[in-house]
Amino acid sequence: MAIFSDDTVYNEKPKKSKNPITQSSSIEYDKTFENSIRPKTFDDYIGQSALLETLKISIEAAKKRNTPLDHMLFYGPPGLGKTTLAGVIAEQMGANIKITSAPALERPRDIIGILMSLTDGEILFIDEIHRMNKVSEEILYPAMEDFFLDMTTGKSQTVKTMRIPLPKFTLIGATTKAGELSSPLRDRFGIIKRLEFYTIEELSKVVKRTAKLLNIEITDDGAISIARRSRGTPRIANRLVKRVSDFAIVKYDGIINQEVAETSLNTLKIDEFGLDTTDRNLLKLIIEKYDGGPVGIETLAAALSEDVRTLEDVCEPYLLQSGLLQRTPRGRKVSPEGYRHLGIKNVSIQGSLFD
Ligand SMILES: Nc1ncnc2c1ncn2[C@@H]1O[C@H](COP(=O)(O)OP(=O)(O)OP(=O)(O)O)[C@@H](O)[C@H]1O
Ligand SMILES: [Mg+2]
Repeated sequence: MAIFSDDTVYNEKPKKSKNPITQSSSIEYDKTFENSIRPKTFDDYIGQSALLETLKISIEAAKKRNTPLDHMLFYGPPGLGKTTLAGVIAEQMGANIKITSAPALERPRDIIGILMSLTDGEILFIDEIHRMNKVSEEILYPAMEDFFLDMTTGKSQTVKTMRIPLPKFTLIGATTKAGELSSPLRDRFGIIKRLEFYTIEELSKVVKRTAKLLNIEITDDGAISIARRSRGTPRIANRLVKRVSDFAIVKYDGIINQEVAETSLNTLKIDEFGLDTTDRNLLKLIIEKYDGGPVGIETLAAALSEDVRTLEDVCEPYLLQSGLLQRTPRGRKVSPEGYRHLGIKNVSIQGSLFD
């Protein structure tokens, strides 16, 4: 069933993972926590400054012209703020937002139902938009382009096409896999933007903001320690603040400083790069069983009993971006930095140098 609502209910399905950072023992609790600290305005939204500038201009222009905003597509790794940004844009436009995700739009009537429920200026947010099926996607084309719904009635020789006008809405799509979007769909977005990993400075602002909302005291160096281990990702930064604050309250005097942050994160087995046990196991597996790679992602997923999507969407982006892992046409390879990070000697590189 398509889930959408006027009070911005988010029907994100939990991602299957054993990674302690990406899946807590209580996903529902995590979602509530996540929603409770989600920035609602541009002022609260930290980082992504170039993107925000572009968006602010588009929003002002749309308001001045009294036209709907261009359809927008946001892509990038999980937890970087795509859903949050859609909410912020709606707030700035003073528009209502309806939120759904492509897997909830299985039948044509799901997407038709949502489109027909929209009103002028409303924002429709479709998450995981790369997972739209062909039929639903084709219904979206004329809706996005001309604000029409093409409906067919009757059978074979008596078939008739009706054009039903739709309100002037804005579609915001989000995906972690822009490459899997069909080009006709991609071409119908006026603004296509990639969200970038956050800097340590930006993440420490996220950390401080969350600590404040949790009513916990944090020092500058404590915030930086957490930021450093957050893999460039606000969602992870927030979860780490939550966990470290539990330690600070139970084991220390309730203040997060550098020592409290580092000791707690070491106990949680999150290293100074932000890698957790799953990430390290992935790198170790490639080194120990496959001579450092290249090795196919399916083989790795099977060996780790992880699902391929979790490895591709959650583990890999940060390992690739931090240069610990490399993607080659023949599969994944651990880089010299990856060996160094794990403290393992790269025998194959040395061998080829000195042979
Ligand atoms: N720019 C930001 N400033 C402050 N907090 C942020 C920012 N971006 C994201 N967050 C925090 O990170 C959490 C995750 O963000 P969000 O759900 O928007 O990510 P996403 O890109 O939609 O992830 P996914 O691909 O998994 O759907 C939010 O709860 C929010 O509190
Ligand atoms: Mg999202």
